[in-house]
Amino acid sequence: MTIPPTPAHAGLEDVVIGNSSICFIDGREGRLLYRGYDINELVEHSRFEEVVFLLWHGRLPNKKELPEHEKALAASRKLPGKVLALLKGFPRKATPTEVLRTTVSALSLYDSDAENNSMEASFRKAMRVTGQIATIVASWARIRAGKKPVPPNSRLSAAANFLYMVHGKKPHPLWAKTFDMALILHADHELNASTFSGRVTASTLSDMHSAITSAIGTLKGPLHGGANEAVVRMLQEIGEPERAEVWIKNALAQKRRIMGFGHRVYKTEDPRAAHLRRMAEALGRQSGNLKWYEILRTVERVVGEEKGLYPNVDLYSGACYYAMGIPVDLCVPIFAVSRVSGWTAHVLEQYADDRLIRPRTEYTGPTHPQPVVPLDRR
Ligand code: COA
Repeated sequence: MTIPPTPAHAGLEDVVIGNSSICFIDGREGRLLYRGYDINELVEHSRFEEVVFLLWHGRLPNKKELPEHEKALAASRKLPGKVLALLKGFPRKATPTEVLRTTVSALSLYDSDAENNSMEASFRKAMRVTGQIATIVASWARIRAGKKPVPPNSRLSAAANFLYMVHGKKPHPLWAKTFDMALILHADHELNASTFSGRVTASTLSDMHSAITSAIGTLKGPLHGGANEAVVRMLQEIGEPERAEVWIKNALAQKRRIMGFGHRVYKTEDPRAAHLRRMAEALGRQSGNLKWYEILRTVERVVGEEKGLYPNVDLYSGACYYAMGIPVDLCVPIFAVSRVSGWTAHVLEQYADDRLIRPRTEYTGPTHPQPVVPLDRR
């Protein structure tokens, strides 16, 4: 019996498992860079489509490349007819994240490159799945509500098109801008749990759809993508701004984990939270309803005072989607609509310089062979 040589790192905290040039996080200073570009700059000066190009190619597109790239992405939004039929057959009570996980897996059955794992084919699959995920999420939102899915509109940006497919009408410019910013801010985050699981799958030289399916399954958990949905449910439970302080103090006294706070890497405020806070306020002002924003401000103050914890990306994102009339349980799949750009970039990077990811555990069971007592004597 060989004993693992290194001590266990619970949760793989601070363990570096390889090189990557995609995303840099400075957890002490609260900085986040995609391919060397600060997200504060990207959010001000670029669109989600540009960020997708940046993540995949390592540089920003030029004036000729961007329209070509946008056209290719828009052309990939349509779902195969059989996949749409599959969606229509799912039980209406299925959660949007389960539906997304299952449907992305099914997409490979209809993808002409399914079993072709060359870099060129994997890139084509990255393009297709990035376009299709938004259509799956929006179509399911309508199908389960008994409405006809709205086909994608290739003249709209990724952000505006998603809202169009959910609501069946072109969105207010502030909504489209806000959603575009949210997509940029969620696009990548180094080796977060879902990206890690996507890379583990890719490291076996499994295919793009399998890797993205693994990532979606990992994103689903409340300690990862599920936190923004939990924040909205908390807002609904608190109900009114004047109840927020007492509610949160009680929750902390009961040692409840407050969703939207804390982070494995950031030891200060998550830089994405500041933009989402600003957007939540702008949406509240536009709709004349600042209630959710005000509750969150109080929650943020009390959790900071009592626990010294900072907000993460999830504190304000769910409130933004909620303000745009998006059903609460779409929060996690929307995370995937954006993060698929980062997942696919990481899968491509993994393929380009692959080594099987296969860590060890610190074994704590018996090391001397145990006698197997026959069943009738156990
Ligand atoms: N609410 C209350 N306490 C929290 C907390 C939260 N959101 N996040 C961390 N803490 C506390 C823990 O209770 C623990 O305290 P203790 O040492 O007294 O037991 C301490 O901070 C460290 O927490 P730990 O869970 O060990 O940190 P981690 O690095 O493993 O966890 C998260 C990181 C993100 C899982 C954690 O902060 C969390 O659960 N946050 C809420 C979920 C969330 O918003 N997720 C989205 C992340 S982008």
